[in-house]
Amino acid sequence: MKTKFKFKKNERLFILTGAGISAESGLRTFRDNNGLWENYRVEQVATPQAFKRDPGMVWRFYKERYSQLKKAKPNAGHFAIKKLEDFFQKNFFLVTQNVDGLHLAAGNEKVLEMHGSLHKCFCTRCKTRYKFEDIDLSQDIPGCLNCEGQLRPDIVWFGEMPYFLDEINKILSKTDYFLVVGTSGVVYPAAQFLYIAKSYGAHTIGINLEEPDNMQFIDEFHKGKSGDLLPKLVSLWIS
Ligand code: OAD
Repeated sequence: MKTKFKFKKNERLFILTGAGISAESGLRTFRDNNGLWENYRVEQVATPQAFKRDPGMVWRFYKERYSQLKKAKPNAGHFAIKKLEDFFQKNFFLVTQNVDGLHLAAGNEKVLEMHGSLHKCFCTRCKTRYKFEDIDLSQDIPGCLNCEGQLRPDIVWFGEMPYFLDEINKILSKTDYFLVVGTSGVVYPAAQFLYIAKSYGAHTIGINLEEPDNMQFIDEFHKGKSGDLLPKLVSLWIS
């Protein structure tokens, strides 16, 4: 395995991850063969309109995913990223589209979960937030303990604004390296971060099972599983 990069602690690293990094933890991605969107239509379960139309169905979808992710553990790819946070410290920035919480479980502290978290939900009426583990998931549509409004998973659905965009944009303009792992590069605005970082002069690196849609903006691409490749590459980058 070859890489032309050697990281220095005083440089800045921005990492964007997607569902592919959690594939080796046993969680299904969205768009691969047997991906989640083969069995479900986005408009049925991942839009605010779907929740308004049929909150019970949306809750069934996310309860099932929650029960799967409760069994999932971080894999070697997540742990390699934790090593990068230890190396870069204040110069490390991790943004994930994943809602599974596995970066936090691997010990990463600076994680921006731009599409929300499937460990949390909030009241559609009074906005009180809850952890999934503190609510009664046996209810078809879990209710708020404060106001009896409907709770909804804290997921950023299609048509909603991802979290932390201002912060992310500021960091993108100052990063030396942009590393993108396990994402198909089709969902915006996340798919645009690679281009933005590159246009500000960052070196861009990609790790993915298949070439992503925004491949043309990647300077160094490593094709394969992130759980295999990341630990080896991280050793080369920070040795
Ligand atoms: P996708 O399912 O679109 O893409 C996953 C990518 O990971 C694909 O390009 C795979 O080739 C790659 N992949 C699979 N296994 C891998 C492995 N072991 N190592 C490395 N790469 C691997 O998932 P995302 O790009 O994360 O949004 O999807 C982006 C957003 O679209 C998600 O956050 C979700 C989805 O609809 C919401 O639910 C709001």
